[in-house]
Amino acid sequence: MRPRIVTFLAPEVGAGRTTAAMALASTLTKGRDSSVVVIDATPKARCVSSRSACLTRWQQHIKRHGATIDHLTVYHVSSVKELTDIIEGKVDERLPSFATILIDTGAQADDLALSVVQRSDILIAPFMDTTVARKISAVLEGIDIGDVPLYGLKCGDACKEAEHPDAVAAFKAGHVLLHGLPRSPLLANMSNGGHLLSMHIALNWKYARYPQTDPARKPLRDFIKIKSEIGCLANEIGLALDGYELRRREPFQRQEPISVYNPSGPIPT
Ligand SMILES: Nc1ncnc2c1ncn2[C@@H]1O[C@H](COP(=O)(O)OP(=O)(O)OP(=O)(O)O)[C@@H](O)[C@H]1O
Ligand SMILES: [Mg+2]
Repeated sequence: MRPRIVTFLAPEVGAGRTTAAMALASTLTKGRDSSVVVIDATPKARCVSSRSACLTRWQQHIKRHGATIDHLTVYHVSSVKELTDIIEGKVDERLPSFATILIDTGAQADDLALSVVQRSDILIAPFMDTTVARKISAVLEGIDIGDVPLYGLKCGDACKEAEHPDAVAAFKAGHVLLHGLPRSPLLANMSNGGHLLSMHIALNWKYARYPQTDPARKPLRDFIKIKSEIGCLANEIGLALDGYELRRREPFQRQEPISVYNPSGPIPT
């Protein structure tokens, strides 16, 4: 089966592209049947910068913690040729049935980022707030993306429930995914945390001995909540790749008021 290509494209510094790519890759590489290839197509590919999320550091941590990486491969490319060679090579390869290629792009809509747009099965544009959503949306509206579906992805503070209507209104270039990547210190530090699975094992080792309701167990509870959010997001992206879209449920309007039994009156028979 041909691998599906998910590209993170949001031409703005610090939009949340790399963190979203790492979180999704870590979630998708759970089973033996799923293989994930992450392509770092940012101009600073291979650099280990201290402030931004960094795929090189993330990959090093995964290796250091001994997690199985047979099904997770990271490539760093710095030219359109390198990028297209890898994509073409992977498309021709006999990959396991649910292979996914995740492509991280840079903060500019440069040739490297644009070269992959038409080859993608879906474009995901992360943003941390409504202002950035509006800016990214305006840039993406000026790019020819053909028929490739484009979705906005709320990250960090943009995930707050109250922000949703404003974010949806700001991101005019496409639909905004219902699930997002909420703000979490674990995601902020994901380049140094490695695989979500090894983070879970480490937190379990440290906090699972506390009873369920003990406040000391909070880091483990918070992690499980975040992990489940990322799982929901991965499922939603999977549905979007299959052409389905999740919508918010409208509150059900009752047609007639329910008659209330008046306890002071006679009991109806
Ligand atoms: N859900 C989150 N919770 C907490 N921090 C986050 C989250 N998502 C991203 N961040 C933090 O926001 C910053 C920017 O994120 P990231 O590096 O992923 O964005 P980017 O679009 O790849 O940026 P760059 O333009 O530097 O490539 C990083 O410091 C990262 O740790
Ligand atoms: Mg980045």
